[in-house]
This record gives sequence, structure tokens and C-alpha cells, in this order.
Amino acid sequence: MTLPSDMTAIAIAVPGSPEVLTPVRQAPPVPGPADVLIRVAAAGVNGPDLAQRRGHYAPPPDASPLPGLEVAGEIVALGDAAAGFSIGDRVMALCNGGGYAEYVAVPSGQVLPIPQGWSMVEAAGLPETWFTVTQTLVMRAGLKPGMTVLVHGGAGGIGGAAIQICSIVGARAIAVVSSADKADYCEEIGAFATIDRTRENIADRVMELTGGHGADRVVDLVGGALAAVNIAASARGGHILQVSTLEGANATVPLRAMMARDLTLSGSTLRPQSAATKAAIAERIRSDFLPALATPDWTKPQVTTFPLEEAARAHAEMESRHHRGKLVLVTAFGAGENQS
Ligand SMILES: NC(=O)c1ccc[n+]([C@@H]2O[C@H](COP(=O)([O-])OP(=O)(O)OC[C@H]3O[C@@H](n4cnc5c(N)ncnc54)[C@H](OP(=O)(O)O)[C@@H]3O)[C@@H](O)[C@H]2O)c1
Repeated sequence: MTLPSDMTAIAIAVPGSPEVLTPVRQAPPVPGPADVLIRVAAAGVNGPDLAQRRGHYAPPPDASPLPGLEVAGEIVALGDAAAGFSIGDRVMALCNGGGYAEYVAVPSGQVLPIPQGWSMVEAAGLPETWFTVTQTLVMRAGLKPGMTVLVHGGAGGIGGAAIQICSIVGARAIAVVSSADKADYCEEIGAFATIDRTRENIADRVMELTGGHGADRVVDLVGGALAAVNIAASARGGHILQVSTLEGANATVPLRAMMARDLTLSGSTLRPQSAATKAAIAERIRSDFLPALATPDWTKPQVTTFPLEEAARAHAEMESRHHRGKLVLVTAFGAGENQS
């Protein structure tokens, strides 16, 4: 196809509230030698996009200043050194930025095929959270069958990825939620049990549910006072993975309890990882998880859609914390597609 001279994208006019997300017209990106150019059907909305919009998460110097860390769509151009894909392939991709747009250039190592049976809109909500959880829970913390994993924010994007990765691996996810409705959702997508943090003691419930063993792994995006709760809920030899600090970047950590239980606490952010690391994560997802996602009875995470131009409304919805699963922005191309 002939590429257009300009496209719609969503820019951050100035740091601030959702209204600063502004539709603009600009030239499509030019793919580098190892990139593919994707005509975007849909772009997932993620917690880090909110932080970037507020001015708290600057993009790396070589990345697009536009928000958007994941997309699904169709490949329309390839750099000379881009390997493994052809023009016309329907793909999903982890972007380095720039996903809130009608076209985005992505290193080919961060691109994956869309699982059989998934629409482009459904697939657009997978990469950012599945890359994050694969890198931390699977590759760093060695998730194994039979482990119990405490998953905070179970009904959100990261939480849903953690629950589903546990179910593929044969681990048991205990999801922390704030309502009965979110608890039902977490069970639908594969959680073994749920804890309502508004009325239950998290550490006590984990011990009850595991017969006093505790959680072998914890995926935490809350931080603050939960640091001590995570330690109290952990099994001997456990590993707590800090992927965000929504309630507080600083915490009082009971070090003796950590020592007594042989615990590891590690933190990570995906975006600044090297292209080689992101490509290695993609390969792990392709080999270990894509086959399960393509099975006909797989329960896909819930997706709520917004037109690309209404990105501000999607951010406001995410900030309200009413959503379950993923929020996804759909372009004119995505809206016109036969979706499965
Ligand atoms: N480290 C990384 O590489 C990485 C990658 C992706 C995302 N993240 C971070 O992970 C966090 C979650 O991202 P997401 O896309 O999963 O977001 P999300 O879909 O909004 O999910 C967040 C979940 O956490 C729960 N939560 C508990 N305490 C919260 C609080 N104080 N503020 C907001 N939510 C709270 C919310 O449900 P309830 O309030 O109902 O419990 C919600 O279900 C974000 O901070 C994001 O920046 C980190």
C-alpha cells in the first residue's frame, strides 16, 4: 500500500490530567533498518502511559515522545534488517513509545504473531503486561508449577497477565481485589482464589489458603505499607516482585523477617530494557504462552474500547479504577476490520 503523508496521533500537549491528550496530525514514522512499520488497528492503555502523561515517566531519549507501549495491526513496511515477518502479517507488538497513532515503527524482535482466534483489538491489550510479567515472574523469579503467587491489582492489566501466566504454568494465583465483581472476574480468567483487600487481612488469608505455607511469589504494584504485608504473606524462599508503587515509593521493610524467611525483593521497569532483552522476552512468550492463548476455550481478558481520538476518556476511566481487564484505543482502520 502507499503510505499516507500524515496520520492521526495522540500527543501529550503538556504534563497533566487526561485532557492534555490531544489528537494531532503528523507524518508517520520511518522504520529503521531493524524495524517493522505497523498500521495500527488498536493500542492498549497501560499504567505507565498515565505516569508519562502526568510527567513522571519520561520516554527514553531514542523513543517516540508519543504515548503508547503496545499495539496490534498489520505490517505495511519492513527495514532491510527486520527479520521473521512479511508485509501483510497481522501482529501484536511491544512498542518503545508512539503506539497511540495510526502507524508505529517497532524493532522486529518485539513483534509477535496474533494468537489464533484473537481479534486485533483483543491482542492489542497483551504485549506490555505479558512482557512485564514474563520478564519478572517467569524469567527472573523462576515461576514453577505448583507455586502459589499473590497477585495485587488482580483485575487490572498486570494482574490479569499474572493470573493467566500462572494458569498456563500450573501455578496458583491468589488475586487481591477491591470488590466482589472484580473477584468474579479474576476467577473467570483463572485465579485459584481471591482476597478482598477492603474487608480481609491479606497475609492472614494467604496463610489460610495455603495451609500456613505462604506465597512463593508476590507480584506487587502498590508498595508503601504493603511491603510489610507482602513479607508477612511470603513462604520461606519467596520472591517479591515490585513492578510499581501506586501507594508509596518508600516503605518500612522488616528486614529480620526477610532474613528469617530467606526472601528476595526485586524491582524492575520494562521500558528501559535493551532491545536484546525485549527480544528474549518475546521469544519466551512465543514458545511458552502463545500456544495456550490460541486454544479455542481460552478465556480472554475483558477489553473495553475507545476511539483513538478519545484517549483522554480512556485515561480518565483507568484513573477511576472501575475497569476490569484492559482498555484499548481503536483506530479507524481497526474499527473497519473484520475482527477475528
Ligand atoms: N514495572 C513495569 O515494567 C511495569 C509495566 C507495566 C505496568 N506497570 C505499572 O503497574 C501498575 C498497574 O498497571 P496496569 O496497567 O495493570 O493498571 P490497571 O489496569 O489500572 O490495574 C491496576 C490495578 O491495581 C489496583 N490498585 C490497587 N491499589 C491501587 C492504587 N493505589 N492505585 C491504582 N490502582 C490500584 C486496581 O484495582 P482496585 O483498586 O480495585 O484494587 C487495579 O485493578 C501501574 O502503576 C503501571 O505503571 C509497571
